[in-house]
Amino acid sequence: MTVIGLITAGGDCPGLNAAIRAVTTRAVEAGAGVVGFRDGWTGVMTNDFVLLDRDAVRGILARGGTILGTSRSDPYVHGSGVASLTPTLDEHGVDVVVVVGGDGTLRSAARLADEGLAVVGVPKTIDNDIPTTDVTFGFDTAVQIASDAIDRLTTTAEAHNRVMIVEVMGRTQGWIALYAGLSAGADVILIPEVPMSLDEAAHVIAERHAAGHHYSVVVVAEGFPSPDATELARDAFGFERLGGVAYSIAPVLERLTGFETRVTVLGHLQRGGTPTAFDRVLATRLGAAAGDAAVTGNTGVMVAARGTDIVTVPLSEAGAAIRGVDPALYDIARSFFG
Ligand code: F6P
Repeated sequence: MTVIGLITAGGDCPGLNAAIRAVTTRAVEAGAGVVGFRDGWTGVMTNDFVLLDRDAVRGILARGGTILGTSRSDPYVHGSGVASLTPTLDEHGVDVVVVVGGDGTLRSAARLADEGLAVVGVPKTIDNDIPTTDVTFGFDTAVQIASDAIDRLTTTAEAHNRVMIVEVMGRTQGWIALYAGLSAGADVILIPEVPMSLDEAAHVIAERHAAGHHYSVVVVAEGFPSPDATELARDAFGFERLGGVAYSIAPVLERLTGFETRVTVLGHLQRGGTPTAFDRVLATRLGAAAGDAAVTGNTGVMVAARGTDIVTVPLSEAGAAIRGVDPALYDIARSFFG
C-alpha cells in the first residue's frame, strides 16, 4: 500500500482544507494511506502527525485555515534537508510527500526532490505569484474580500469627501491590488510591478476632485515601495514582514493634494474565512490531481491549472521565479483612474 505524507506550509489561505480533503479522499479511494503532519515541515521534523481517512476530512470543505496547521519552517533553514525528515517518514513508511505551499515551500520541495525525496507540490497562496500555474487557490477569495471592502470604503469616502487609501496583501507582486482595484473601480492602483510616483497619483486625485468628484479611493499593494526607507521586521522564521506602506503614503498624498486622507490596511482579513466557490473547486481539482500523481508515482512535479485543464509540471520550474501581473491588464485599469 502506498503511504502519502501530507503537509500544508507557508501562510494559510482559503481552500487549504478543500485540498486536504481532496488529496485524502482520492488517495484513500485508490487504496493508499495518508498521514497528515502538523504545522508544515515542523510536524515532519518532530513527528507530530494525525492519520487521515475519509471520515477525518468530512465537513471541512468550506472551512478556512487548515486542519493540519501551517508554519514557515523550512527543512533547509531549520533542519538539514532530507536527512531531517527521513526518520519520521521512514517510521510511517511514507512513500511520497504531498506539499501544499507557496513559492518558498515549493522551492524547498524542489531541492528535496533533487536530494531524492518523492514529492508532489500543490500551489496555494492568496498572492497568486507562482509561475507555471494560471492561478492559485486563495487568490479569488482574497480578491473578493478586498473588493467588498473597497466598495464599502468608497461610500464612506464619498460621504466625507475624503481620500481613502486601502492597502492589500500580495508580497512583492500586485495581483490582489490590481484585481480588487479593477473590480471595485479604484481611482489609483499602486503596485510594485508598475512604477507610479506619488506626484502622479496626487495629480490624478487632484484632477478628479477638480472635476467635481470630491472623494477618491487609492488601492496600494503592500509591496509598493515606501517613501520612507524603513528596514522591514522579520518573523520567527526570518520571513520579512510587509504591511503598513499605506501609512507612509497617506501623509505624502495629503500634503500634495490638500485633501483629508485616511488609511485602511486589510491585512489578514484577506486570508481568513470561507473560500469562494471558485477556490473550493480549484483546490479540490488540484488536490485530487496531487493524490492521483502521488499514488501513481508521478513525483518531482507540481500540479497546475492551465486553461481549463489540471496538468503536472516539473517542481523545479514552480519555485524558479515569482510571477507578476500582466502590464496590459494594468493599462486597462489605468484607463479608469481618476
Ligand atoms: O504570502 C501570503 C501573505 O499573506 C502575504 O500576502 C503577506 O505578506 C504575508 O503572507 C503575511 O504573512 P504573515 O501571516 O506571516 O504575517
